[in-house]
Amino acid sequence: MNTPVIAIDGPTASGKGSVAARVASALGWHYLDSGAIYRVLALAGLQRGIALDDEASLAALAPKLEVRFDGEAIYIDGVEASLDVRRETTGNAASKIAVLPGVRTALMARLRAFRQAPGLVGDGRDMGSVVFPDAPLKIFLTASAEARAERRYKQLIEKGLAANLDSLVQELRERDARDASRPVAPLKPCEDAILLDTTPLTIDEAVAFVLQQAQTHK
Ligand code: C5P
Repeated sequence: MNTPVIAIDGPTASGKGSVAARVASALGWHYLDSGAIYRVLALAGLQRGIALDDEASLAALAPKLEVRFDGEAIYIDGVEASLDVRRETTGNAASKIAVLPGVRTALMARLRAFRQAPGLVGDGRDMGSVVFPDAPLKIFLTASAEARAERRYKQLIEKGLAANLDSLVQELRERDARDASRPVAPLKPCEDAILLDTTPLTIDEAVAFVLQQAQTHK
């Protein structure tokens, strides 16, 4: 039997990262923050002066980077880059390189390599539709743009990063539109995904929902 995967997809700041990490820890499974992989590549590309639409150079760079996660910390080629990876500017850059099919293909093997026993909880935009289409459980989280902007605002302030609520709402809408309208792996729930609107829910409630679903989708 294949190693089980719980695929948790959804738009920016829908809560998928926090929910997926907690579900993984409750089950004792591995956790994949696939957005961080796109962010790492965008950041490393920018640091090397590669344009965000230079598909060939970004695709060539993708397999060369050594990326290591240690809890919340992220290391690129041995150097800690956690704060830079989490910046909104890096998220926006990630969403620009994520429209390039060559970049998505170049990252696929790296993403699939996270599937290891006893199981994987992966969050992103296309975990259920493209990367792990055979996942026994697929969840699609949504939340209103305002609720998501407020959550992202709090996260950024807690990390000591600059944030402005109005521009966050605006940027989230732009990022959603770009992620949803791209021809390759667009952000949309796949047919067999279970939808969960987290606008009125706490993280604990959303985690409890996913764990309950995990019991019935083994
Ligand atoms: O989830 P996060 O905001 O960190 O992702 C940054 C960007 O990376 C997203 O806006 C999206 O464009 C891209 N991404 C993607 N596919 C994934 C994960 C992230 O296209 N599986």
